[in-house]
Amino acid sequence: MPATDINVTQALHARRSVRAFTDKPVDPALLKEIFAAAQRAPSGGNLQPWQATVLTGAPWQAVKDAVAVRIAMGREGYEPEYDIYPKGLTEPWDARRFGVGEALYASLGIPREDKAGRLAQFMDNYRGFGAPVMLFLHCSRIMGPPQWSDMGMWLQSVMLLLVEHGLASCPQECWAMYGATVRRTLALDDGQILFTGLAIGHADPAAAVNQWAVPRAPLDEVIDWQGF
Ligand SMILES: Cc1cc2nc3c(=O)[nH]c(=O)nc-3n(C[C@H](O)[C@H](O)[C@H](O)COP(=O)(O)O)c2cc1C
Repeated sequence: MPATDINVTQALHARRSVRAFTDKPVDPALLKEIFAAAQRAPSGGNLQPWQATVLTGAPWQAVKDAVAVRIAMGREGYEPEYDIYPKGLTEPWDARRFGVGEALYASLGIPREDKAGRLAQFMDNYRGFGAPVMLFLHCSRIMGPPQWSDMGMWLQSVMLLLVEHGLASCPQECWAMYGATVRRTLALDDGQILFTGLAIGHADPAAAVNQWAVPRAPLDEVIDWQGF
C-alpha cells in the first residue's frame, strides 16, 4: 500500500484506537518497512529496549485460544504482569478514565445498566477486535520506568506510521491481565515482561465504535507555562 502524504499533525489527529477491523490481511513487507522506520524512535542511552512479537494466522489464534481458557476460569485465571492503573486512582485521572468509557459505550448504545452488554464489548478486546495482526510489545524485566517510556515512544511511532500507510491499530494493555499466558504461548522467556498488545489491521469504516469523538483534557490542565 503506498504511503499517504499526510503530515505528522494530520497523522496525530487521524490516529485513534480502532475497535472494529475488517478481515483484510496486512502486507508483512509493509509492516517490516514500518518497524524499520520506528527504529528511529528515541530512547534514553539509545537502549532501544522495545521488543515485539508479531502474529497472524495460527500463532495469533493460539494466543486467543490460550487466553480464552484462562478467562473461563474467572478471577482465578488472571496472571497479571503489572497493575494497569494505580490503586486508588484520584482526580483528574479517574474522571478521564470514566469519561472515555462512557463515551465508548454511548457510541454503541449500551447503557450503564446493561452490564452484560458492556462486558461483551470489553471481552471483544480478547479477539483483538477482529484484527488480522497482533503485536505484543515486551521488554526485559530489568528495565524501569524510563525504558517503559521509551517503549511508549516506539509504540506511538508505529501507530502513526500505520496511519500514514492507511492502516489502523488499537493498543491493548488488557492482555497484560493474562501476561504469563501470553508469554507462555509465545515461548517468551521469564526474563521478559509483557507491556501491551497492539491490534493491527484495516478499520471497519461502518462501525459506530470507530466514529465517536474521543475527549481530551484542555491544555491548561496539562501545561504550566512559566516565564513566557
Ligand atoms: C498502552 C495503552 C494501552 C491501552 N489498552 C487498551 C485496552 O486494553 N483496550 C482498549 O479498548 N483500549 C486500550 N487503550 C486505548 C485507550 O483507551 C485510548 O488510547 C484512549 O482512550 C484515547 O483514545 P484514542 O486512542 O482513540 O485517541 C490503550 C491505550 C494505550 C496507550
